[in-house]
Amino acid sequence: MSTSKTNSYKIAVIPGDGIGKEVMEATLDVLNGLDIDFKYVYGDAGDECLEKTGTALPSETLDLIMDADACLFGAAGETAADVIVKIRQEMKLFANLRPVKSYLNTNSLFDDIDFMIVRENTEGVYIADEESYTDDGAIARRIITKKAEKRIIEYAFEYAKNNNKTKVTAVHKANVLKKTDGLFKKVFYEVAKDYPDIATEDFYVDATAMYLITQPESFEVIVTTNLFGDILSDEGAGLVGGLGLIPSANIGEDGALFEPVHGSAPDIAGKNIANPIAMMLSAIMMLRYLGENESANKFEAAILKVLKNANTLTGDLGGLATTTEIALEVKNNL
Ligand code: NAI
Ligand code: MG
Repeated sequence: MSTSKTNSYKIAVIPGDGIGKEVMEATLDVLNGLDIDFKYVYGDAGDECLEKTGTALPSETLDLIMDADACLFGAAGETAADVIVKIRQEMKLFANLRPVKSYLNTNSLFDDIDFMIVRENTEGVYIADEESYTDDGAIARRIITKKAEKRIIEYAFEYAKNNNKTKVTAVHKANVLKKTDGLFKKVFYEVAKDYPDIATEDFYVDATAMYLITQPESFEVIVTTNLFGDILSDEGAGLVGGLGLIPSANIGEDGALFEPVHGSAPDIAGKNIANPIAMMLSAIMMLRYLGENESANKFEAAILKVLKNANTLTGDLGGLATTTEIALEVKNNL
């Protein structure tokens, strides 16, 4: 047993609504079992916050996130777009990372999936610049800049280099979107020259949607633009069986936010039956971001053990355990 906790971090904690609060509590419980000194600063956001204060994302909460070393976010309800999308924009969280990994005793369709989707988070069609209606419809603009795409592609290659991945796959539709995705593809191969040890390939997004099902084990790191990344990451979630297991990270130049992909799940909220593993895996991504790889590995190994034993699983994985029981079991396995 080590005596004192060495490294110290200030973590902004935003539990939010519904099961966000339950999975956050379970996750902090395990984090407190690690040899790291976390100073939590709690922020309000979401539906309840809107009701209480008249705004879903108070400026104090944003300040608190900006000031912290990293942020853990649970889930918001109906105000999710005003909360999480706004935070991503305000903090310029340009990279959205969605790991797709198969674990034992889950509903994963395959046993050997392990890849990372690196999605550009600031431009593309999600700038939602929809001009006013035309006579016969409406027009949306898609913005692709060399600066933003180079930044995300470099991020993907750095991720590959630092995580012993041997290949990066670019996903686009450059045959049709010749200018925007043509630029993305060109920048991809320019950046690739700086990483001669990492193999490259590029696929059209429609083909990729199929390859994710026919050969998911062949992918290691996928880098793509905003909308394609959003769609492919939900396909990835479907491959490995369920929202209760899917974490994510939003990374910027001066900050990062870690959150499960799921929402506030009003259908099961308040019952202590939500699966906290997606939130826990998000916290593990935070540990790696902070450079706490040893603790991250320890935490992940504890979760793997719980899944392998399969005695303590929540309802979404066919078990009867409560959220708090999972936290206790993971903590005991640290
Ligand atoms: P949801 O992710 O909250 O729930 C979808 C289904 O998955 C539900 O049946 C739920 O019970 C189940 N589920 C989700 N997480 C689970 C977990 N950890 N353990 C066990 N089962 C789990 O998505 P839904 O129902 O579309 O949205 C509910 C609310 O959440 C909405 O108000 C929506 O706006 C918000 N939302 C917020 C997000 C965020 O804060 N990032 C993301 C998605 C939705
Ligand atoms: Mg999505």
